[in-house]
Amino acid sequence: MNYKRSILVTGAAGFIGSHVVRLFVNKYPDYHIINLDKLTYCGNLANLTDVEDKPNYTFVKADICDYEKMLAVFKTYKIDGVIHLAAESHVDRSIKDPFVFARTNVMGTLSLLQAARVTWDGDWENKLFYHVSTDEVYGALEFDKTLFTETTPYDPHSPYSASKASSDHFVRAYYDTYGMPIVISNCSNNYGPYQFPEKLIPLFINNIRHKKPLPVYGKGENVRDWLYVVDHARAIDLVFHKGKIRDTYNIGGFNEWTNIDLIKVIIKTVDEQLGNAPGTSDNLITYVKDRAGHDLRYAIDSTKIKNELGWEPSLQFEEGIAKTVAWYLENQEWMDNITSGEYEKYYEEMYADR
Ligand code: NAD
Ligand code: DAU
Repeated sequence: MNYKRSILVTGAAGFIGSHVVRLFVNKYPDYHIINLDKLTYCGNLANLTDVEDKPNYTFVKADICDYEKMLAVFKTYKIDGVIHLAAESHVDRSIKDPFVFARTNVMGTLSLLQAARVTWDGDWENKLFYHVSTDEVYGALEFDKTLFTETTPYDPHSPYSASKASSDHFVRAYYDTYGMPIVISNCSNNYGPYQFPEKLIPLFINNIRHKKPLPVYGKGENVRDWLYVVDHARAIDLVFHKGKIRDTYNIGGFNEWTNIDLIKVIIKTVDEQLGNAPGTSDNLITYVKDRAGHDLRYAIDSTKIKNELGWEPSLQFEEGIAKTVAWYLENQEWMDNITSGEYEKYYEEMYADR
């Protein structure tokens, strides 16, 4: 079939990428969607079983750092658009092993940029390199009313956020130096189905189910701005199709929670859905050593994407969290396949450190 567009989505066996691919494959049957993923510890093709047989979906197992392979993929599939999500994404891992974050997030992004530039060779018409980034590049806010806007200066603190900030700069440099069409979005914390259970929400849902301790870093006072992952995928669709070249869009839920308040909501929701008496799992809360360099507060001002592209979150948090808890409780096999074996050992070692 002659497709209208051929879009490379990197890291789409992961959490957010799988939702982006699901949206694009179903919404745009005239687009060829190529999921390129190395399948690292958190890449999981089980996140995409509902689209794997669609004719407009192709999976390629590859490492974005393999430049020759990236060139071959661009040529073979005649890629005209990139939505780049592949990354090492967990802050705690970046504190333990920063090198892999520099390799994947910086060198991997550079390898993809260069493959796009060399393949497109100055013919920029209908071409786009869309880089999916994070609010963590802006650093940390105080407990006040300030928000991250698109002009907030970069001030990353963890090896993860430093590597993402670096990749953002490389992406802009490819427009400024070579004229390659790029766009970037910086999003706040996502939650929803298919998130790897090293991240707060799926980890705690699973630990409550197994009556395991819930390790709250520090005093639990840090603030995050939570957005349902499907709303992020909707925003990515809009930015990809309507975003201005070389522009940046902040994406967030105007939905700030201290960790401890969020954890109490999770406990209450899981207990309700498991049919436990109220308060059953409260005693699982365990305060542990704080994360090194733990950013106090993230909060996004998403006025620009609302005003310019008409995007707003579609789901209220209470509904989103209830749906998310229900999904993890109903998809125990998905969870157990991840948390058994090798990963269980890794998690126990991480936890013993605290
Ligand atoms: P994730 O860790 O769930 O998935 C990352 C995916 O990238 C995995 O499938 C993994 O196999 C793949 N990958 C890793 N290294 C690779 C390599 N060298 N080559 C090819 N594939 C590789 O991550 P996520 O939470 O879905 O985040 C996706 C992107 O969105 C990241 O760039 C992240 O920085 C950004 N982001 C995440 C959030 C969030 O709350 N999760 C918020 C804002 C931005
Ligand atoms: O803001 C966007 C970022 O959100 C993304 O760029 C990252 O890829 C994503 O992992 C996420 O980063 P956080 O560090 O905010 O997410 P995490 O789920 O690891 O932690 C959320 C908060 O909960 C944070 O303040 C640390 C705390 N926490 C986390 C874990 C895993 C705990 O207190 N205990 C835990 O066991």
